[in-house]
Amino acid sequence: MEKVFCYFISALLLATSMLASFSLAKTNISTDTMALLELKDHITSDTYSILAKNWSISSSVCNWIGVTCSYTHHHRVRALNISNMGLAGSIPSNLGNLSFLVSLDMGNNSFHGHLPEGMVHLRRIRFISLSHNNFTGEIPSWFGFLEKLQHLSLRNNSFTGFLPPPLFNISGLGVIDFSENNLSGIIPVDMCNSLPSLKKLLVSSNKLNGQILTGISKCSRLEVLSLSTNEFRGRIPREVGNLQMLEELCWSNLSYIILWD
Ligand SMILES: *[C@@H]1O[C@H](CO)[C@@H](O)[C@H](O)[C@H]1NC(C)=O
Ligand SMILES: *[C@@H]1O[C@H](CO)[C@@H](O)[C@H](O)[C@H]1NC(C)=O
Ligand SMILES: *[C@@H]1O[C@H](CO)[C@@H](O)[C@H](O)[C@H]1NC(C)=O
Ligand SMILES: *[C@@H]1O[C@H](CO)[C@@H](O)[C@H](O)[C@H]1NC(C)=O
Ligand SMILES: *[C@@H]1O[C@H](CO)[C@@H](O)[C@H](O)[C@H]1NC(C)=O
Ligand SMILES: *[C@@H]1O[C@H](CO)[C@@H](O)[C@H](O)[C@H]1NC(C)=O
Ligand SMILES: *[C@@H]1O[C@H](CO)[C@@H](O)[C@H](O)[C@H]1NC(C)=O
Ligand SMILES: *[C@@H]1O[C@H](CO)[C@@H](O)[C@H](O)[C@H]1NC(C)=O
Ligand SMILES: *[C@@H]1O[C@H](CO)[C@@H](O)[C@H](O)[C@H]1NC(C)=O
Ligand SMILES: *[C@@H]1O[C@H](CO)[C@@H](O)[C@H](O)[C@H]1NC(C)=O
Repeated sequence: MEKVFCYFISALLLATSMLASFSLAKTNISTDTMALLELKDHITSDTYSILAKNWSISSSVCNWIGVTCSYTHHHRVRALNISNMGLAGSIPSNLGNLSFLVSLDMGNNSFHGHLPEGMVHLRRIRFISLSHNNFTGEIPSWFGFLEKLQHLSLRNNSFTGFLPPPLFNISGLGVIDFSENNLSGIIPVDMCNSLPSLKKLLVSSNKLNGQILTGISKCSRLEVLSLSTNEFRGRIPREVGNLQMLEELCWSNLSYIILWD
């Protein structure tokens, strides 16, 4: 009897684990709908009733305002743009279930709280803007797993702590905008070794310190470098002069007077 019972348990476990992996592989537009409804549930204030009126299950998510679906991947959600909508709330963990999402723009609202770890599942994401909100906590190190990321803007929030080193490992990253937060610590000196595509690095109005960017000339495509209002010390390295694409360099209002070395 006991043997039969044990056999039954293991068969059940096997079946459940197969089901689990099956449902993981076979996500569909319903998964995306659930994720967006969960996001809607996390909205605490919808100033202009935009989502309240429009995000209704009586129509497909692909017709919802701010939602763009792809035609190639069986109409999965490809872009979400709910910027400038006067929304307040937080991001639910299962936003990461939008596994075909390429672009996420939630800029200029009043979202708050920490960025949930579930977002690490946004493996196809290339563009993220969460600028002009009130997100708090550290910039999560799981950003480093978003290997396709090209543009990351977290401007004007309340992020604290250090810059996460894994972020500086995303070789395609072209734009980093962390201006107007409460970040401290240093910019890794070897940053440019792993960010060959970097075009814009904007970190003004934080509390970053340490030496300014030795090795910066390896970021040969750099166009904009904005360092103003931080606590950097030392001198601007002469190699900045080798950055041939550089159009804009801002270093006003630092803690120490900076001179060319
Ligand atoms: C999505 O998949 C679930 C099972 O994983 C299924 O029950 C549902 O009918 C599917 N929905 C669509 C729209 O294909
Ligand atoms: C939601 O907004 C979209 C885009 O503005 C519009 O095409 C659609 O008809 C709206 N749906 C509802 C139910 O209001
Ligand atoms: C999102 O929509 C706004 C208009 O409200 C537009 O300015 C912005 O460029 C869009 N974002 C993306 C990533 O396309
Ligand atoms: C930010 O969003 C508000 C609506 O909530 C809008 O009136 C304002 O123009 C937006 N600001 C920018 C810079 O787009
Ligand atoms: C959606 O996300 C939640 C939280 O991250 C997770 O527990 C759930 O299994 C996910 N659902 C699907 C269908 O992937
Ligand atoms: C942002 O969040 C912090 C901490 O939760 C709070 O003290 C501050 O008032 C918020 N700022 C805005 C503009 O909502
Ligand atoms: C940052 O956003 C807050 C509102 O969240 C706004 O009051 C403040 O002026 C913004 N700061 C800058 C420098 O744009
Ligand atoms: C930044 O941190 C300081 C304390 O270290 C705090 O007083 C200030 O309110 C914070 N500013 C923002 C925008 O979070
Ligand atoms: C960056 O990637 C390299 C190899 O791909 C790895 O050895 C290293 O540990 C990574 N660094 C960080 C900080 O993730
Ligand atoms: C210069 O930095 C201080 C704090 O470090 C700040 O209060 C002040 O507003 C900044 N001035 C300008 C012009 O950015």
